[in-house]
Amino acid sequence: MFDLIIRNANLADGRKGLDIAVKDGKIAAIETSIAAEAKEEIDATDRLVSPPFVDPHFHMDATLSLGLPRMNVSGTLLEGIALWGELRPIVTKEELVERALRYCDLAVTQGLLFIRSHVDTSDPRLVTAEALLEVKESVKPYIDLQLVAFPQDGYYRAKEGVTSLSRALDMGVDIVGGIPHFERTMEDGRASVEALCRIAADRGLPVDMHCDETDDPMSRHIETLAAETIRFGLQGRVAGSHLTSMHSMDNYYVSKLIPLMAEAGINVIPNPLINIMLQGRHDTYPKRRGMTRVRELMDAGLNVSFGHDCVMDPWYSMGSGDMLEVGHMAIHVAQMAGIEDKKKIFDALTVNSAKTLGLEGYGLEKGCNADFVVLQAVDTLEALRLKPNRLAVIKRGKVIARSAPRIGELFLDGRPSQIDGGLDYVPVRK
Ligand code: FE2
Repeated sequence: MFDLIIRNANLADGRKGLDIAVKDGKIAAIETSIAAEAKEEIDATDRLVSPPFVDPHFHMDATLSLGLPRMNVSGTLLEGIALWGELRPIVTKEELVERALRYCDLAVTQGLLFIRSHVDTSDPRLVTAEALLEVKESVKPYIDLQLVAFPQDGYYRAKEGVTSLSRALDMGVDIVGGIPHFERTMEDGRASVEALCRIAADRGLPVDMHCDETDDPMSRHIETLAAETIRFGLQGRVAGSHLTSMHSMDNYYVSKLIPLMAEAGINVIPNPLINIMLQGRHDTYPKRRGMTRVRELMDAGLNVSFGHDCVMDPWYSMGSGDMLEVGHMAIHVAQMAGIEDKKKIFDALTVNSAKTLGLEGYGLEKGCNADFVVLQAVDTLEALRLKPNRLAVIKRGKVIARSAPRIGELFLDGRPSQIDGGLDYVPVRK
């Protein structure tokens, strides 16, 4: 007797009509027509069953603070940083915890069960770190939350940036962050990358830096990050977030840079929603897109995963906690509209980001953790097109969220949208 069987599941890798049996929180079998019984069954009715979404880049300390203490009038990155600088000294730990938990509730309903969040360490009060460490514990049964010590105002540029970052790591923050392009000079940026990689090597931690989030083609801190990764033996443990300057770099230089990044095993984290919104702001026309070179990086074998980055905060007034919205934008901005392209984009929201986070037991294979999302879509292509409801979200074999199916959608197979005795729907097209 199994604990749970999900029947008639289509998987992201193209396998169709499979039953997935769960025992003790792990996948015990994936086969066609499992004859055994289970305490609970879900008929996926040939819909997509995916491992949960993984967001490798978020700011949970700022989320849902839109309008506090005022709106971002210009809508630019720099006004967003200034605005956050106004809110940060007056925000309380309780407010931070309350907003973060509200976001986590939203994330669970979206099937987003793994999140890496940056935590601003610029204010020496470090209420941000205190709050998110508490949130990390509270949401543990549902969401695996990784925290990055992020010196938003500059590791060297902020008054107590150096000591605050170390104190946050001492408190239990998991990952070393950075923002070299925001330091006062290129040299300070270079030096910050070296110092932060040294800290990661000494403490045995991963690195995840906001790196070259600018349209300046001469912002080349990713080169230093890759070189220091190799020098300190951190291959595979380092992520470069944003990397938008690569969009504007000279092609010859990039032809040297990408192999260096591959040698260093850099995990690349573009943030399509935020990059298309915030970059290219100094351009008239033509305007740059401001996302890094996703196709070229993937083709070179680098691990690329997409982040949501912001939801209703000083930098971005939109967002929904839906990683499919992120993938939808990535398809457009990277112009990756082919069938194989879209499959790669879906992977960048799931298996690639799981690799970035170093997750163990992730995936739909026997022995993996029984964590799933049942989507109201037949496959990954339809999921990316419709951003459909998450009919069931399952963590370690237990259903932790359900959504009613939407009706009246343009499903390609023309079927009514039903699952688990959902709404009756009579298709208009006979
Ligand atoms: Fe960010």
